[in-house]
Amino acid sequence: MSDRWYSQAVVYCLDIDSFADSDGDGCGDIRGLIGRLDYLARLGVTCLWLNPIHPSPGKDDGYDVSDFYNVDPRFGTLGDFAELLHQAANRGIKVIIDLVVNHTSDQHPWFQSARSSPDSPYRDWYVWSETAPSDRNQGMVFPGEQDETWTYDRTAKLWYYHRFYKFQPDLNIKNPEVRAEIKKICAFWLQLGVSGFRMDAVPFIIERTEPGDPTAPMDFGFLSELRQHVQWRRGDAVLLAEANVEPEMLPGYFGDDGGSGNRIHMLFDFMLNAKLVLALARQDTEPIIDALRDTPKLPDGGQWATFLRNHDEIDLSRLTAEQRKDVFEKFGPEERMQLYGRGIRRRLAPMLGNDRKRLELAYSLQFSLRGTPVLRYGEEIGMGDDLSLDGRNAIRTPMQWSQLPNGGFSSADPKDLVRPVISGGEFGFEQVNATRQRHDSSSLLSWFERMIRTLKESPEIGSGSCTHVDVPAPRGILVHRADAATGAMLFVHNLSAKAGEVDLSSLAEDAEFPNDVLADQDYPDPDKLDSIKVGGYGYRWIRMRRTA
Ligand code: NOJ
Repeated sequence: MSDRWYSQAVVYCLDIDSFADSDGDGCGDIRGLIGRLDYLARLGVTCLWLNPIHPSPGKDDGYDVSDFYNVDPRFGTLGDFAELLHQAANRGIKVIIDLVVNHTSDQHPWFQSARSSPDSPYRDWYVWSETAPSDRNQGMVFPGEQDETWTYDRTAKLWYYHRFYKFQPDLNIKNPEVRAEIKKICAFWLQLGVSGFRMDAVPFIIERTEPGDPTAPMDFGFLSELRQHVQWRRGDAVLLAEANVEPEMLPGYFGDDGGSGNRIHMLFDFMLNAKLVLALARQDTEPIIDALRDTPKLPDGGQWATFLRNHDEIDLSRLTAEQRKDVFEKFGPEERMQLYGRGIRRRLAPMLGNDRKRLELAYSLQFSLRGTPVLRYGEEIGMGDDLSLDGRNAIRTPMQWSQLPNGGFSSADPKDLVRPVISGGEFGFEQVNATRQRHDSSSLLSWFERMIRTLKESPEIGSGSCTHVDVPAPRGILVHRADAATGAMLFVHNLSAKAGEVDLSSLAEDAEFPNDVLADQDYPDPDKLDSIKVGGYGYRWIRMRRTA
């Protein structure tokens, strides 16, 4: 098995504010999370990715940081955080945190100082222009909620650059002091005991922005510097980057032209995410096959992080207009389900009509495809969304723990909750909650526990190669395999409602004692690989061989 822990990890992503509230003030906190670590350990999670934990005015769910060296007082203290790291480690769970250093909040003392005077030591920490940049209406990330990327600041009497909302001024990566500060922030948290960072908005961090030049050069060298720094401070620390860019750009994020993986360890596989959703919508395997074929080869140590849902909208911008239309039609037909013209602001269960078979199929696919799986809190119990909330808040409602008031999330008055708990109807906490599913061995939660246990017996998935197997099969059935020094696994997934059959005889010689290790139903043991059946929306994980 690979000694790189992240290739065998199961990552669970959560927002502290909406996970568990221990003191009844309506906002989730670190102590609440500590109280739920046993739940996460039982689920099989081995790494938590915490959405921003720092003090913040909270205008972008914490992605507008006002102090990088502390935790949001609503969540607790640094002492509580150290305790969390200790308690998580006791259960074999690592913790990585969001590192949001493309920008700060406009309330950050650095920005307040920078705007106040040309002599401020922080003036050059941000990106300014004396005149209105000609490209100020280009490159917005949140169309509809943002109409420019340069805003005039009356105090500074200058324009400042902000790739995201105007309350998120970009830091100036060209300034060596900024680079040094980012390294210091990383070192601080590593010293406390985090195992790495989910790096926010990496393509924008390394942008060497100049007013009027929307095609600014990218400073990939900074990623090599940062990797080296992080690795010296903690040898097993990992960088997991958000870089939603064209496939041909991806290799540069992993490493330099020499072919060594000397930059980011793991990148979210945005392309596979969009193609998976398209494949599920069309009930056609072709988009997944395309994604497996078209993604670049990774340098040694490079790893994909796969996901179906995260805390943002599902970004369909890399699909063609026609593909996007098909996905919208199936999974986000109403305007209120869509966001920024490019995405869907729904959880997976409502997207799939709360169809248990399709949910299992989708997550079986995600967890068996190459890379390290990342699971968003609440998906394991099939939580729904609240489309009455603004933008991405629809999918950021509190975790549903039980049938207690507020779904067991908090004892506060419902009007004081950070966001309302989903109540009533098929996704309300009365129906969908962790306690109820714990007591039901046929629940989605129990299925996730079983599936993750099986994943842990299948190191080939995280550490091995992942290839599409081209055998005679109907359009809706995908066959892929994972190979590593430990053995070989084969996976059959039926994206369509119609039961089907695949001819695996060409692989027979390669399989020693083929048997199902996970499947949607009991199938007769394959014994040898020939023609095998798979039910509508069915799946089979077949161990072909074990060598170590
Ligand atoms: C990407 C994060 O995922 C998103 O939630 C946030 O709004 C932007 N970066 C800005 O930090």
